[in-house]
Amino acid sequence: MQAHYSVLVIDSGIGGMSIVKAIRELDRDISVTYISDDDFFPYGGMSEHKLINRLHSLVDQALQNFTPDAVIIACNTASTIALTHLRKSFSIPFVGVVPPIKTASEVSQSRVIGLLATEGTVRRNYIDNLINDFAPDCRVIRVGSRHLAAEAENKVRGRGVDRNNIRAALEPFATQDCSKLDVIVLGCTHYPHLHDELKEEFTSDVLWLDPALPVAQQLLHVLDTKTDRAANTSTQPKANIVYFTKKQPRQEDISPFLNDLGFSTVAHLSA
Ligand code: DGL
Repeated sequence: MQAHYSVLVIDSGIGGMSIVKAIRELDRDISVTYISDDDFFPYGGMSEHKLINRLHSLVDQALQNFTPDAVIIACNTASTIALTHLRKSFSIPFVGVVPPIKTASEVSQSRVIGLLATEGTVRRNYIDNLINDFAPDCRVIRVGSRHLAAEAENKVRGRGVDRNNIRAALEPFATQDCSKLDVIVLGCTHYPHLHDELKEEFTSDVLWLDPALPVAQQLLHVLDTKTDRAANTSTQPKANIVYFTKKQPRQEDISPFLNDLGFSTVAHLSA
């Protein structure tokens, strides 16, 4: 029998649910405690110092209440700056998500790759290093968006998506001569929720790369190799729960989306 695991997943909102969906698809006995840090949304424009402190405090608060087998920082913006700090500060295994530039380089025929991410992520040194290490012969067109994550939040609450914001987010690719582009990396966990809209509004046929499945597979690897199996037999929570750090005015709007992902309980986290 496979061990039951419990994980803590953190993002600025519902973006990290794209990773939860991939975890569910792997069909393992994993319960998820999810922190949606709406009170600090969006992370995209936040200073590095403030974001590191915020994540440290969220993880610290969560670990005082339960002991998950691993923590997923289900946010590119946060992972690219805070993972090193978090791994040094807490003894629990962390799994992060960073834009899959390496995979894009492996599959791109034209050697022109797009990176669509938050404004914070596209300018990080972490991205320079990923490109230097894994795609040195590629031209990488970086596009930072201020509005897409909010559009994803609207969509999952059934509020519809403003197509003007989708088109505006994609526009910089055209101004940077994207004619040879064959892959666009989704460098924010919110964006896979907008996959259909992005595909419909983009001018050409490209591969949209979502790192959710590889991250979920990495989680399983970490759980199976780095955790203490004896510790996860009975004491871990079996419930799947979402904590919002901001009160949800119309929680019923998001319930169908959360129910589909196996979340039975929603609560407010004062953090
Ligand atoms: N979902 C996050 C990411 O992957 C951040 C979105 C935001 O809060 O700006 O980057």
